[in-house]
Amino acid sequence: MWKLATLLSTLLISVSDAFRNPIIPGFNPDPSIIRVKDDYFLVTSTFEFFPGVPVYHSKDLIDWTCIGHALNRPSQLNLRGTAPSGGIFAPTLRYHEASKTFYMITTWFDVISPPDNTTGTPRSMYVSTKDILDEDSWSDPVYVDQWGFDPDLFFDTDGKTYLTTTMGSGFIDPDSGYFAIWITEIDIKTGNSLTESRYFYRSELPINTPRLAEGSHLYKFNGTYYLLTAEAGTEVQHRAMWHRSKSLHGPWESSPYNPFVFNGRNLSQPILSTGHADIVQAPNGDWYTVFLATRPQNPTNSSGVPQLGRETFLAPVTWKDGWPIANGGKDITFEIPGLHNKPRPKVWQDHFWNGEYNGFADRRGG
Ligand SMILES: *[C@@H]1O[C@H](CO)[C@@H](O)[C@H](O)[C@H]1NC(C)=O
Ligand SMILES: *[C@@H]1O[C@H](CO)[C@@H](O)[C@H](O)[C@H]1NC(C)=O
Ligand SMILES: *[C@@H]1O[C@H](CO)[C@@H](O)[C@H](O)[C@H]1NC(C)=O
Ligand SMILES: *[C@@H]1O[C@H](CO)[C@@H](O)[C@H](O)[C@H]1NC(C)=O
Repeated sequence: MWKLATLLSTLLISVSDAFRNPIIPGFNPDPSIIRVKDDYFLVTSTFEFFPGVPVYHSKDLIDWTCIGHALNRPSQLNLRGTAPSGGIFAPTLRYHEASKTFYMITTWFDVISPPDNTTGTPRSMYVSTKDILDEDSWSDPVYVDQWGFDPDLFFDTDGKTYLTTTMGSGFIDPDSGYFAIWITEIDIKTGNSLTESRYFYRSELPINTPRLAEGSHLYKFNGTYYLLTAEAGTEVQHRAMWHRSKSLHGPWESSPYNPFVFNGRNLSQPILSTGHADIVQAPNGDWYTVFLATRPQNPTNSSGVPQLGRETFLAPVTWKDGWPIANGGKDITFEIPGLHNKPRPKVWQDHFWNGEYNGFADRRGG
C-alpha cells in the first residue's frame, strides 16, 4: 500500500509538475526559437539531408509539431554531391516586427574538410516569409556578403540589421583560438553589407579548453546588447556563454554566472555537450532557453557515443543582476520542474534472446 501510494505520487508529480528533456528528441541540433504572440517557432540544423531546416510549432514549449521545412525546393537548396557533415549548418530564426516577416538564416557547406584539410567558410543565406504556417511561402535565398557560418540576424531598435557569423580568425588574431565572431550591418532587402566586416568577439576560455566561439545570437534587453555564444567546441566541453555591452563596439562584460549551460564538469552525467542556446520569453513574462545536448549511452567519462545525435533541450531562465541564469544555475537533467509533462509512449524492449519478441516492458515505471 505504501509502495502504491509512493508510486502514484511519483507519477502525479512527473505528469503535472515537471517537463521531460529532450523536448524535441532525435537529430535536432542547434535550436533557434522565437515567440510571436502565443505561438512559438523553432528551427534546427539538417546537414546533408533534404528538405532542410524543419520548422516546429508549439503553444506551450512542450508539445511540438513539425509544420514544414524552410528549405524545401531545389531553388533554395541543392545538396547534390554534398559531403557527409556538410550541408546545412546552424540556423537562426527571427521575426521582424515592423514588416511582420519571418527570417531563417543558415549556411550551406557543399564541402567540409576537403583533402587539403582546409574547410572553406561559405557565405550564409536567408529565406523569408510572412506566413510561416505555409511551407511553400518561404522565399528563395538571399546571400549575404560576409563569410562565415552559424549566422545570426539582429534587428536593432533603430531599424538597423546586423549579421554576425563565425569565422576562422587566426589571420587577424593568433590568440583567437581559431573560431571567433564577426559582425557587419546589412541591408535586409538585398543581403548586402553596409559596413565592412569587423572582428567582434573572441572566447576568453583558456586556449586548450578549446577556445572557440561560435553560434552567436545578439539581443537587446532594456537598452543593453547581450551576446550569447556556443563555446569550446560541440563535444563534452561545449557550453553557452553570455556577455553584454552598452555598445556594439564593446567592451564586452562577461556574465559572473557563466557558463549559462554546461554539464561538462562531471563527465559521468547522462546528459552532456550542452550548449548552442537561444532564449525566449513566454506571454506571462517567464523566460526559457533551448539548446542542444546529447544522451551518450555510456557516459562514464564521456567515452559514450551519442547514437541519438544532438537533441533539443529546454530549461527555465531566471534573471539576477541583469544576467540570465538557466535552471537556477544547476546542471541540466531529464526532469525539470515547471510547465507540464506529456504522456510518453511505452518503452518497447526486445533483447533478441529467442525467436519471439519479449513483449512490452516499461523501464520508466510510468
Ligand atoms: C590532413 O590531416 C590529416 C590528419 O591530421 C593528415 O594525416 C593529413 O596528412 C593532412 N593532409 C594534408 C594534405 O595536409
Ligand atoms: C557525476 O554524475 C554521476 C551520474 O549522474 C553521479 O552518479 C555522480 O555522483 C556525479 N559525481 C559528482 C562528483 O557529482
Ligand atoms: C574519470 O576520469 C578521471 C580522470 O582521468 C578519473 O579520476 C575518474 O576516476 C574517472 N571516473 C570514472 C567514473 O571513471
Ligand atoms: C528590464 O527592466 C525591467 C524594469 O526594471 C525589469 O523588470 C526586467 O526584468 C528587465 N528585463 C531584463 C531582460 O533585464
